[in-house]
Amino acid sequence: MSDYILDVQHIHKRFTSKNVCVKAVSDVSFKVKKGETIGIVGESGCGKTTLGRCIVRGIEASEGSVQYTAKDGTEYDFLKIDKKEMKKVRKEIQMIFQDPYSSLDPRMTVLDIIEEPLKANYPKMTKEERNKLSIDIAAKVGLNTSYLMRYPHAFSGGQRQRIGIARALVLEPQVIVCDEAVSALDVSIQAQVINLLVELRKDMNLTYIFISHDLSVVEHISNKVGVMYLGKMVEFAQTDELFQYPLHPYTEALLSAVPVADPTMQVERIPLQGEIPNPANPPSGCYFHERCRYCIDKCVTEEPRLEELPGGRSVACHRAKELKLRGFAPVKKEA
Ligand SMILES: Nc1ncnc2c1ncn2[C@@H]1O[C@H](COP(=O)(O)OP(=O)(O)O)[C@@H](O)[C@H]1O
Ligand code: SF4
Ligand SMILES: [Mg+2]
Repeated sequence: MSDYILDVQHIHKRFTSKNVCVKAVSDVSFKVKKGETIGIVGESGCGKTTLGRCIVRGIEASEGSVQYTAKDGTEYDFLKIDKKEMKKVRKEIQMIFQDPYSSLDPRMTVLDIIEEPLKANYPKMTKEERNKLSIDIAAKVGLNTSYLMRYPHAFSGGQRQRIGIARALVLEPQVIVCDEAVSALDVSIQAQVINLLVELRKDMNLTYIFISHDLSVVEHISNKVGVMYLGKMVEFAQTDELFQYPLHPYTEALLSAVPVADPTMQVERIPLQGEIPNPANPPSGCYFHERCRYCIDKCVTEEPRLEELPGGRSVACHRAKELKLRGFAPVKKEA
């Protein structure tokens, strides 16, 4: 049996409209062990949501495979399984969305919202069984179970995100793709929801893919982090190594923008030059070259491949071996 619960291989997703082709995701591969959390970061538009949706099959990838080891030990290519198997396996891989305001139906009670996936997947289940499972999971995610007959608008942003989490968990999945799950929340509420996700991971043996545009959000929950730029994975590493010794100039720049919690400390910002390029018309060579302060001639003409280095890290940069980049290292502010 594979060591990995998910083996994402060579995912491509192209969107074509009005004869313009956008490569939203280009050749992304990574592996996930059971119980791990993989953070996926990068600026808005770099393809994180598209990648997540391809993995859960909310949309169909243009190319690629996702080898998945199901609860019963069977290995599937999740992107190719047929309808009958899908019925069995689909519930094991769930997605939690960005916006707790728009993803909950305002006309349904919270209990109905949490129960709905049970209705769809277990048509023979009795109402009593459904209620019991839903109330149990609502309690587990920290919702007040005497309020479940209320409608979503009566709940705060953090509570609505808990409703979304309960709804995803009621089917007892193995894998959850969290897409900007805390991005709309205040920082203090973000921390509470992240702590909840960490607890649930342990209690329910969950594996997460945790997507965020914000590196500081993925730091505490992720074992490993993948950095995306314009549809490509440019670096993949253990979280602590990535924060201490980034190997890609884009990661270095992102790290320099991570807020410092201690008000007496600061980091020197490395400003990114220029705008994110248009993914329908990407630059030549290294997609990052127009914004990279280490760019050399080769970067303009030759595309760097994502190379695996000893120790399990990967990076796509021609100069990765020679550059000494700065990690997240706040220094005391001058008085
Ligand atoms: N349904 C779609 N049709 C056309 N283009 C899309 C669609 N969804 C996403 N894109 C494009 O794909 C790229 C990646 O988008 P997305 O995955 O949403 O990025 P992120 O989640 O990192 O912000 C963007 O350029 C976006 O405009
Ligand atoms: S390949 Fe060149 S342009 Fe691209 S990140 Fe590395 S140094 Fe910068
Ligand atoms: Mg997104």
